[in-house]
Amino acid sequence: PLATTGELVTRAAQVRSAVAAFNVITLEHIEAVIAGAESAGTPVVLQVSENAVKFRYGRLLPLARAAVAAAEGAAVPVALHLDHVQSDDLLRQAAGAGFGSVMYDAARLPYAENLAATRAAADWAHAQGLWIEAELGQVGGKDGRRPLDAHAPGARTDPDQARDFVARTGVDALAVAIGSVHAMTTRTAALDHGLLKRLSAALTVPLVLHGSSGVPDDGLVAAVTGGIAKVNVGTALNIAMTRAIRDFLAAHPEAVDSRKYLSVGREAMIQEVVRIIGVLGGAPG
Ligand code: G3H
Ligand code: ZN
Repeated sequence: PLATTGELVTRAAQVRSAVAAFNVITLEHIEAVIAGAESAGTPVVLQVSENAVKFRYGRLLPLARAAVAAAEGAAVPVALHLDHVQSDDLLRQAAGAGFGSVMYDAARLPYAENLAATRAAADWAHAQGLWIEAELGQVGGKDGRRPLDAHAPGARTDPDQARDFVARTGVDALAVAIGSVHAMTTRTAALDHGLLKRLSAALTVPLVLHGSSGVPDDGLVAAVTGGIAKVNVGTALNIAMTRAIRDFLAAHPEAVDSRKYLSVGREAMIQEVVRIIGVLGGAPG
């Protein structure tokens, strides 16, 4: 059934576990995430990023309606989340498209501007009954942009600033920059677990890890123990899908039926979803 990110993340945070949130781009991604979560027997978040909407010719509804329909038919709770929203126009489409939550991303802006923009987004979201996540510090690496040096000023999330940011914006969850970077194709990111501990002590809202594809398994486990309650994964699914399709097409140069290779790609994504949920230890049903 269709659930909300707020209920899933709140429940996970209460027992120091985490909900896996997977970025979806195609119908095959949606089906794979749900099949993987069903096989693991855990709730899951399907998230559609602003970049994915751009890929879909700027149209949110076709993918959103597919995701809602798939979630409604799922055997486990499935929440729908609009991810990395920078455009106010897209933000305002969230409620009517079936999303229960949004991540408003103004992390690129100087602190005061991030604060003001996020507070306005949070006021709007709460008036619509939406749960809202925001980012402070910069995870970086989106759009193939060169990530900030993870040690550069402002790149990591400062605990005192984070407490001020959450209090003044009223956001329901905070994405923290603790050493992960978006779009990594190796699992070699070293998280700053000391910083996570200080953030977790300074804040009462659930914390969100972005760029989780680049984090090794033991880093993910320690992050969940340290207070991360939502783990965002995108690139790992694309790696699994693309590798499987590349291998299949290399072995079957005569193949033309798209269902043949899309099945292989979807199956590889299912296995990756099951693997990652297993690493996280499963979210409470
Ligand atoms: O918001 C989405 C995530 O941060 C995905 O990051 O593609 O590096 O796993 P990733
Ligand atoms: Zn992200």
